Amino acid sequence: MTTLQAVRYSRGKLEVLDQLRLPHEFHYDDVSTRQEAFDSIATMRVRGAPAIAIVASLGLAVELHKGPVAGDTVQTVIAHIDDALDYLKQSRPTAVDLTNAINQLKARMRDSGDTKEAIVEGFISEAEKIFEKDLETNLAIGTYGAEWLEAQVGATSENTVSILTHCNTGSLATSGHGTALGIIRTLRANGQLRHAFCTETRPYNQGSRLTAFELVYEGIPSTLITDSMAASLFRTRKTEKNIAAVIVGADRVVRNGDTANKIGTYQLAVLAKHHGIRFIVAAPTTSIDLETENGDGIKIEERKSEELTQVTGAVIRADGSVDESHKIRIATADQRIQVWNPAFDVTPAELIDAVVTEKGAVEKGSDGNFDFSKVMPERWAKTKAP
Ligand code: MRU
Repeated sequence: MTTLQAVRYSRGKLEVLDQLRLPHEFHYDDVSTRQEAFDSIATMRVRGAPAIAIVASLGLAVELHKGPVAGDTVQTVIAHIDDALDYLKQSRPTAVDLTNAINQLKARMRDSGDTKEAIVEGFISEAEKIFEKDLETNLAIGTYGAEWLEAQVGATSENTVSILTHCNTGSLATSGHGTALGIIRTLRANGQLRHAFCTETRPYNQGSRLTAFELVYEGIPSTLITDSMAASLFRTRKTEKNIAAVIVGADRVVRNGDTANKIGTYQLAVLAKHHGIRFIVAAPTTSIDLETENGDGIKIEERKSEELTQVTGAVIRADGSVDESHKIRIATADQRIQVWNPAFDVTPAELIDAVVTEKGAVEKGSDGNFDFSKVMPERWAKTKAP
């Protein structure tokens, strides 16, 4: 079985799966300019922190591969690419993977030679590396996550565990396997998983539209709940299902471990604490921002009210088959009701038991903060300790 692919790429061609049409329609958009990449990300046709960074990097790589770059000196070419990257950085503000990818691309192209062609080639091959490395990273997160659960909660094939996850962190949010969903997939492959629960993830329904679809696609025994059912799930089914952990992804983990992730994550962490269930963040080191001291420094994206007052779904025909996707209004159009629609929230480090990266699982030290120096020693040393 081929895995789901959010992004299909070969040099000079990038296709991005339109996730707004899932699970009812499978349509790939061609993305060959920075504007198309920006639009794909800003409208959330592609979403998820690693996938955002990949599409921005490869979208610009395709544009550079296709057309001659304006300017005739190395300096003007570098300035042209820097401008394009700064533009792409504005597409979505909370996920830090894009900023980390941009910093990496800017540094690497400057080191790649002293001709215009070498700079462009340096950029393209670095963008391709970001894409290729992501899959390796996610497989390692899966392995470390499963090992952590075996060591901490005794998850084995004789003592299988159930996991709740939120939003979508699978193949659709990455170049493959996924982060939090990647740990679930690895647990399943190891025989350690009893059942996966996923939340609907209001208001944009990444859980019901994407994660439920991925879980079924992977043949993982799973149940969909609304976000408001988590407390009851823990209270009534924790023992029966051996619910051992909530595992979520991250858009930005800052220096002390405070974590921005999809709105609704924080309330799950509070509930997990109350019910004695472990709370794990699965995040590649590209989602870690060592320059921001704590969660107060994270910019939370607020999205338009229509994403809360309307839903997109497929109309069901009389015979049960589905028509194409349509938008439906579910709240009053009366402007006197104000709408607040933050896309992310911040879970304080004190509620998080482990941050599982591709270099290993990190736990809190005696000061209550996560010490990321062991998994990212160079970046830790380079960034000034607050
Ligand atoms: O608004 P989205 O769908 O981009 O939000 C996605 C999330 O919050 C994910 O949990 C996060 O980006 C990690 S994806 C591996």
